[in-house]
Amino acid sequence: MSGAMLAERPAASPVDPALRERVLALRDGLLHGLIGADAMVERLLIGLLTGGHLLIEGAPGLAKTRAVKRLSDGLDGSFARIQCTPDLMPADLTGTTVWRQDAGDFEFLPGPLFHSLVLVDEVNRAPPKVQSALLEAMAEGQITVSGHTHGLPDPFMVVATQNPIEHAGTFPLPEAQLDRFLLHVVVEMPDEAAERRILDLVEGELNHHAEAMPVKLSVAEIRAAREAALGVYVAPALKDYLVRLVAGTRTDSAAPDLRAAIEHPASPRGTLALMLAGKARAYLRGRDHVIPEDIAELAADALAHRIGLTWRAAAEGKTARGLIGDLVQRVRAL
Ligand SMILES: Nc1ncnc2c1ncn2[C@@H]1O[C@H](COP(=O)(O)OP(=O)(O)OP(=O)(O)O)[C@@H](O)[C@H]1O
Ligand SMILES: [Mg+2]
Repeated sequence: MSGAMLAERPAASPVDPALRERVLALRDGLLHGLIGADAMVERLLIGLLTGGHLLIEGAPGLAKTRAVKRLSDGLDGSFARIQCTPDLMPADLTGTTVWRQDAGDFEFLPGPLFHSLVLVDEVNRAPPKVQSALLEAMAEGQITVSGHTHGLPDPFMVVATQNPIEHAGTFPLPEAQLDRFLLHVVVEMPDEAAERRILDLVEGELNHHAEAMPVKLSVAEIRAAREAALGVYVAPALKDYLVRLVAGTRTDSAAPDLRAAIEHPASPRGTLALMLAGKARAYLRGRDHVIPEDIAELAADALAHRIGLTWRAAAEGKTARGLIGDLVQRVRAL
């Protein structure tokens, strides 16, 4: 099948070039302050464009917090940061209802989750009750406190971070909760050239030469950009590819040896996540249609955290990301 066939669509909705330029200015502003972090930046924007939440994993000091703060500088919405600790309680996130003597009534004091962009640092240090309150908010877009339901802002985006090094006193997110994240992004160490540029950049900033973000996207612009990204076309043949790929985690259809290493396969939520993320990637790259590369590139980030390996595969040192990578190599795209 040719590339042209992937672009053939029933009725193309026109993309607003000015809006796309603003989204790209946001991307460039992020890239400017995040050296060698192109992949993380693209995924942050994919989260923004799909309304999805992100889990970012990386060693300390890889600019995870910096990336999310910078994103918040480029958005005209409120921002909150939650530092997780083992003694955190659900109400520390959701808020509480207090009795107001003067008013003679209860008043709800919203917690830090009631912001458009919420950075949840070291999510695996939060105890399970807090994690489940967080994940519920992410899934439902609302929070129930003392029997009353409170709607969260729209847009509402959670970026949670975790450290790959296992510490005492961490609570790994259960698989069912990991499934709530659109993408699981792994941040790698910078190479030497990038590290050298980081030194110059941060030194300049310490000398008060910090560059402000070139744009601030309004809530209306974020909504419009989301609609545009959602309008990106996915050819039927590409949907078949998506299904073949995810089916490879469930049946022996693609690669029996890989399938045998998987205890829990990816759910349709994973297939959908990959399609939506692919659309957002295409939008960011100036296409009105998804191509196989969009899918292949994002498959590990969209699927690996949703599958569980057999104990044998894990003992052999196999990883979910590695398996999805192999699957992408072996499943034909078109
Ligand atoms: N790729 C990068 N581009 C620009 N600055 C960077 C980069 N990587 C690290 N830094 C700098 O390193 C420092 C640490 O960044 P930051 O606090 O965001 O890391 P982190 O990943 O959130 O760490 P932790 O896991 O400990 O919270 C900051 O001063 C940041 O400017
Ligand atoms: Mg941090």
